[in-house]
Amino acid sequence: MRKIKVGIIGTGNISGCHIEGYKALPDLCEVSAVCDIDEDKVKAYAARHGVARYYTDYNEMMAKEQLDAVSVCTWNAAHKGAAIAALRGGANVICEKPMAMNESESLEMLKTAEETGKLLMVGFVRRFGNDADILKNFIDSGTLGDIYYAKATYLRRNGCPGGWFGDKEYAGGGPLIDLGVHVIDLVRYLAGGPKPVSVYGVTYSNLGDSRAVGGQSWVSSTKGFDFKYTVEDFASAMIRFDNGMTLAVEASFNLNLKKDMGNIELFGTKAGAKIDPQIEFFSDMNGMLVDIKPHGDTSLSFNGLFNREIAHFVDCVRNGTKCKSPAEDGVVLMRILDAVYKSANLGSEVKLDV
Ligand SMILES: NC(=O)c1ccc[n+]([C@@H]2O[C@H](COP(=O)([O-])OP(=O)(O)OC[C@H]3O[C@@H](n4cnc5c(N)ncnc54)[C@H](O)[C@@H]3O)[C@@H](O)[C@H]2O)c1
Repeated sequence: MRKIKVGIIGTGNISGCHIEGYKALPDLCEVSAVCDIDEDKVKAYAARHGVARYYTDYNEMMAKEQLDAVSVCTWNAAHKGAAIAALRGGANVICEKPMAMNESESLEMLKTAEETGKLLMVGFVRRFGNDADILKNFIDSGTLGDIYYAKATYLRRNGCPGGWFGDKEYAGGGPLIDLGVHVIDLVRYLAGGPKPVSVYGVTYSNLGDSRAVGGQSWVSSTKGFDFKYTVEDFASAMIRFDNGMTLAVEASFNLNLKKDMGNIELFGTKAGAKIDPQIEFFSDMNGMLVDIKPHGDTSLSFNGLFNREIAHFVDCVRNGTKCKSPAEDGVVLMRILDAVYKSANLGSEVKLDV
């Protein structure tokens, strides 16, 4: 098969991870066009990466280029429009997380993928982690038994990326939609994809973004907009699933805690497990409690993480391989996130149809 032609919409920070992933597969694909609303930025990006053509309007790019695949790497508010234009323009799409601003947008995107017969993958990059692979293997072979409770934390003490990440009009929400989405999805993925049945959530906006400088390494590359800080700085939720499992999740941009934390813990009838800083299992053996650590380094490695995600997307596009991170799972995540925000507003539990 010939090399597939790839386009990238949104040439900010995360697009750097996508383009490196494509460039690592020179025999399989070629990034032939890129697009960003910031002309100086996209021009410099195209020159830096040796991309032949650049655009400031994704509709024009889709009309003029014969693209097989598109990465959507814009801020969240532009995901829906860019993904739908790319799908309608005949391309398969990988869209960054969160899939959209809310469930209704994500459903429109999924419907378009179904109508066009194109792949819509969501960039749930944690599914491609070495730690996820190892733990999923143990779980699928029954090591944990039935998982009935899970905890997921993604807490930053002083870590709003600033710019549009703090503006609800562009981001859809704060740390829940930006960080919580990663760990909620990872728990669902590891637990075999249960569906949410009810959610109780709380959000707080007590600290805002007026924190001490320093501490946050991921800062939006977007300049020249008057973004307002309008999102929550902390969110927590209890999510019940149709398999009986409950997940407790916590996410923050700003929180008065000692140290940033990112972990998931799973509690099953045969054993429990955690992933950070290394995978470890907790159970009993011969009448004794045991803590079991797989040999070697099992901590999440960022080395090659996005390359594995992009290589999988390219493989799906070229060979029709079953997608490990399909749009359907992006929609379920948006349903959960919507329900957390709704519950926080109502002050009561929100029930969901399965
Ligand atoms: N998978 C991960 O771990 C991870 C990490 C960081 C960010 N992200 C996601 O990646 C996306 C981008 O984040 P970022 O950190 O690169 O932000 P960024 O601010 O650095 O870049 C966003 C870019 O999108 C461009 N853009 C906005 N609207 C556009 C449109 N209509 N057409 C073309 N370009 C448009 C902006 O001009 C900007 O250059 C977000 O959805 C974010 O949640 C994912």
